[in-house]
Amino acid sequence: MKTSFPRKDIKIVLLEGIHQSAVDALNAAGYSQVERYEKALPRPDLFAAIADAHIIGLRSRTQLDAEAIGHTRRLLAVGCFCIGTNQVDLHQARELGVPVFNAPYSNTRSVAELVIAEAILLMRRVPERNASCHRGGWAKSAEGSYEVRSKTLGIVGYGHIGTQVGVLAEALGMHVLYHDIEAKLALGNAAPAHNLDDLLARADVVTLHVPATPETKGMLGAGEIARMRPGAMLINASRGNVVDIEALAAALRERRLAGAAVDVFPAEPKSRDEEFHSALREFDNVLLTPHVGGSTQEAQFNIGGEVASKLIRYSDNGSTLSAVNFPEVNLPEHVGSSRLLHIHHNVPGMLSRINEVFSQDGININGQHLQTEGGLGYVVLDVSASEQQSEHLREQLAAIPGTVRTRLLY
Ligand code: NAI
Repeated sequence: MKTSFPRKDIKIVLLEGIHQSAVDALNAAGYSQVERYEKALPRPDLFAAIADAHIIGLRSRTQLDAEAIGHTRRLLAVGCFCIGTNQVDLHQARELGVPVFNAPYSNTRSVAELVIAEAILLMRRVPERNASCHRGGWAKSAEGSYEVRSKTLGIVGYGHIGTQVGVLAEALGMHVLYHDIEAKLALGNAAPAHNLDDLLARADVVTLHVPATPETKGMLGAGEIARMRPGAMLINASRGNVVDIEALAAALRERRLAGAAVDVFPAEPKSRDEEFHSALREFDNVLLTPHVGGSTQEAQFNIGGEVASKLIRYSDNGSTLSAVNFPEVNLPEHVGSSRLLHIHHNVPGMLSRINEVFSQDGININGQHLQTEGGLGYVVLDVSASEQQSEHLREQLAAIPGTVRTRLLY
């Protein structure tokens, strides 16, 4: 297999209408062989399209499972132009020494804006008044309508999105309380709650921004919802299984909560053609959205640029920072030296065998970076050697037992 090639020889296949910003970034970096498809391809077409691709870019509809990966001959890296990476067989990719990248934070602002809008709409009782108008009603009244100014927003999970929500809420004059399992630096005048119950007891609006983990599953259950302030509102744009939907529905039915906004659900339709089922459909005072918290044109633009730049850095320089299935290495530029990448099974003695190759040839190593994760090791070596010498070194490295893949970077 030819492993060292100039950028123009690297074939990149982008599926599912990935934003033009990705193509622009790749082209600007010298990657001119970009093949772009508007839609996810049927399996046989997919197999044909990716057979000789060095880099594949996809979103959530393309299943890059072991079978599909088995149809690739030259694969170097995969870019998921989205947040989730379940559609890729990460283990299989890793076994072949293929890092997979995604864009976990490009839509942070989009989610934060939606949450703020929902807090305002809920406090003004807009969802039920909107529903009433659609049925010909005219529920003109100030009853139960409040400004968000001076109200308390409780943020559960004070990470990328939670902190953004807090900053925007403060700009509207809200008091911000947050709860996180990690000690977090408070932005602005936000204050940590003593614990989750303390937050629930004090917040007028509770918004959830935690990841899906065993600890967050059902984290807002009947008990927690009962500890919220009477007439409070709940917003969930995090993950569907964080809230017990039946318990939320019961609290809404009994009018203990005044409203809710829910973007994510324990079971979501797989396509637009499937019906959406939820116990929350009956409530006019619940804003329901089809998991669009992060779905904006700006987010798509940002995702295109973010993932493309990660793929470019890996291809140009070997850096694997923020790869989801691979040892992470953040590398300096390698101007004036050749860079050899060695991906191997993480077995004892590998590094000394690698170093032997260089000492036997009397080649000085200018820089060496090693990172291991799970069963995989990744060594990057910078050497002052001619192209021919470097290629010879690469061949020797490739012959070391336990080697998964080698590459020489121009
Ligand atoms: P992040 O990782 O930056 O922040 C999550 C925070 O939650 C961290 O500070 C973490 O310490 C905290 N946390 C974890 N377990 C906790 C627990 N048991 N109790 C309290 N705090 C806990 O994540 P980010 O980017 O802010 O995303 C948050 C959530 O939003 C994720 O679930 C993500 O999947 C979801 N999301 C939803 C989108 C949508 O379209 N609705 C779009 C983007 C993200």
